Amino acid sequence: MLSAIAKLLLPLLFGSFAVCSPIDLVERAVLVDRTADLKAEYDYVVVGGGTSGLTVANRLTENPKTSVLVIEYGYVDRQDPGVLVPGVQVPADYLRNYQSVPQPGLDGRTSPVYSAAVVGGGTVVNGMFFNRGSAGDYDAWEKLGNPDWNWESLLPYFKKSETFTPPPKALADKYPISSDLSAHGISGPVGSSFSNFQYPIMTHFFRGWNSIGVASNPQPNAGDATGAFYGPVSLAARNQSRSSASAAYYRPIAGKRPNFHLITGKLVTKINLNKKTKQATSVQFVTRNQTTVLSVRACHEIILAAGAVHSPQILQLSGIGPKKLLSSLGIETLVNLPGVGYNFQDQASMFLSFNYSHYPYPSPDWFFSNQTWVEKELARYYRDRTGPLTIPYLSGSIVSFLPLQKIVSNYKETIKSAAAVALGPLLPAGAGPSILAGYKAQRDIILGLYASPTETVQEVAFGGGNTVPVAMLKPLSRGSILINSSDPLAAPVFDYQTFKHPTDIHIAVQALKKTRQFMASKPMQEVGAQESFPGISVQGDKAIEASIRTFATSTWAHPVGTLSMMKREYGGVVDPQLRVYGTKGLRVVDASIMPLIPATHTSSTVYAVAEKAADLIKASRK
Ligand SMILES: Cc1cc2nc3c(=O)[nH]c(=O)nc-3n(C[C@H](O)[C@H](O)[C@H](O)COP(=O)(O)OP(=O)(O)OC[C@H]3O[C@@H](n4cnc5c(N)ncnc54)[C@H](O)[C@@H]3O)c2cc1C
Ligand SMILES: *[C@@H]1O[C@H](CO)[C@@H](O)[C@H](O)[C@H]1NC(C)=O
Ligand SMILES: *[C@@H]1O[C@H](CO)[C@@H](O)[C@H](O)[C@H]1NC(C)=O
Ligand SMILES: *[C@@H]1O[C@H](CO)[C@@H](O)[C@H](O)[C@H]1NC(C)=O
Ligand SMILES: *[C@@H]1O[C@H](CO)[C@@H](O)[C@H](O)[C@H]1NC(C)=O
Ligand SMILES: *[C@@H]1O[C@H](CO)[C@@H](O)[C@H](O)[C@H]1NC(C)=O
Repeated sequence: MLSAIAKLLLPLLFGSFAVCSPIDLVERAVLVDRTADLKAEYDYVVVGGGTSGLTVANRLTENPKTSVLVIEYGYVDRQDPGVLVPGVQVPADYLRNYQSVPQPGLDGRTSPVYSAAVVGGGTVVNGMFFNRGSAGDYDAWEKLGNPDWNWESLLPYFKKSETFTPPPKALADKYPISSDLSAHGISGPVGSSFSNFQYPIMTHFFRGWNSIGVASNPQPNAGDATGAFYGPVSLAARNQSRSSASAAYYRPIAGKRPNFHLITGKLVTKINLNKKTKQATSVQFVTRNQTTVLSVRACHEIILAAGAVHSPQILQLSGIGPKKLLSSLGIETLVNLPGVGYNFQDQASMFLSFNYSHYPYPSPDWFFSNQTWVEKELARYYRDRTGPLTIPYLSGSIVSFLPLQKIVSNYKETIKSAAAVALGPLLPAGAGPSILAGYKAQRDIILGLYASPTETVQEVAFGGGNTVPVAMLKPLSRGSILINSSDPLAAPVFDYQTFKHPTDIHIAVQALKKTRQFMASKPMQEVGAQESFPGISVQGDKAIEASIRTFATSTWAHPVGTLSMMKREYGGVVDPQLRVYGTKGLRVVDASIMPLIPATHTSSTVYAVAEKAADLIKASRK
């Protein structure tokens, strides 16, 4: 009798916990929100509590019967000014940064590899710019063999993730910002809005681009991202505070959903598969001081969300990857998947410097060099939520995004010579034939995008200061992230292969010249813009190219592509359901899955992908 009642009640009380034993403890590892113990099993175990991981975990635990554990290397942020106040620099301990191997395209210099290490991931530490690529950037994913992954099908998920608040009237009157809400969400978790302050020089920025044939674009987030525009930032409009994945998807449910568990300060070292069925069964992890090895089982699925820098490393350590590499390190290959860690993409960038002899006061460079002023402005921020500290630290969101036809003098010629470059020799060592097939398919699609007037290739970002970053948004070069040790604590080897494809450096040279043309325009000369770095003595394509190789960097902090969603014949790692080929119960939901880097800052796209992933996961359980 009792057991009959228990049989009836247990599923009601625990839902799928009844399938996943609720009481079998692994060890007394303390969870973040509850003075509770880690359970032995969860329906879903999410590896990485960053941007995508928290999004998926939040959506899955909307159903109180679904149990989810998130395992995160970092800790919950301290709610310090560096996290909340846009204009205060983020503390370094929220990041775990690496260096690439020397880059021949950069005269043998290395470049940094940025990797967030905090609950909320990249969105806790990033520059908060919250834009989207053009429609063709996403339609390209579908063309690579992924039905229903295009702009139209992702737009509802961009909207689902955000609450967009239009700018105050004074800002909208002064700058080209559309009040059209149709492309935006108005009830999602992430705040998307505008800072309550702007430096007066910005009107010159817009007039400058307009004067050289680049129009202002009042709505860059509706599928055409070209032109000079004033984009939103990931900010809660109400209190002008950073809206991170932690603020949006974690804090509102922290301690309120018994089926949502988060454990921090733990490094996932391996995903265990059943050797016969290739079913992903459990996740192995260690405490940061490596004294304790823990493991937890997943009844339904393991969801990899450790970001494009670490997710390929975890799969390789788990025996999922290029067989030759794994064998050389003594790791048994459970699934030979040549694409794991290849197709690595980021956007090379150049930090130019300019001085202004007639600068309209105030300037961010003067401002940040005067500690008294900064303290005064911080008090103003806390009092009124306005002033320069509402703008993301030394960046902002005023930019110009240019299609190839606005950068080079003869874009058809550029495309023709790019098409003639043999791709085989450009791939990193160890790349198998399927990776070359995928690379060729990508090249053809990219060259199509290069011909479009609405697909962008160059970004000029302008925070109003001396440093003017220029990013190369749609590269043809491809790198790799590969382990060279079976030790999970050793960093993988990062190789961007920056400027490996000759067209990439050609476009960079023309992009620098385009930026000079803008700075030489009448509106920018009204403020007395003068190049101080690399300096006007650097003239002629050959000299400019040589100079760029001495100062450009491989990254715009947007690593993607290392576990690409593509056909397996193309070196793909996940299918259009984001399931890892050759396995069961294992998906990837982070920036690694983007097969082609969209011409944008990546966070809003990560949210959209993760929102869609959550729906795919839910649908597969029905
Ligand atoms: C410095 C910086 C500036 C940026 N600026 C912008 C910007 O202005 N606008 C924009 O749109 N985008 C920006 N980005 C990019 C954007 O933030 C990222 O694309 C996005 O956050 C990536 O989301 P993700 O879920 O793929 O990975 P993340 O958000 O990085 O999440 C991965 C999480 O997994 C954890 N993890 C990794 N390995 C393990 C392991 N072995 N065990 C346990 N946990 C692990 C990490 O600690 C991290 O929290 C920036 C990124 C950085 C780093
Ligand atoms: C803004 O509001 C959020 C949500 O209430 C809060 O967590 C955050 O601390 C606030 N930020 C600041 C800078 O006051
Ligand atoms: C290692 O870290 C755990 C918490 O993650 C802690 O309980 C334990 O005391 C630490 N051990 C040592 C030797 O520092
Ligand atoms: C620094 O800022 C303070 C406060 O605004 C101002 O009084 C002072 O003159 C500034 N100092 C310099 C050197 O500009
Ligand atoms: C792995 O690569 C790193 C550089 O990223 C290097 O320092 C290290 O020696 C390499 N280890 C092995 C075992 O090759
Ligand atoms: C620009 O300003 C910097 C310091 O602010 C100075 O070192 C440099 O000489 C200036 N360059 C020009 C071209 O005026």
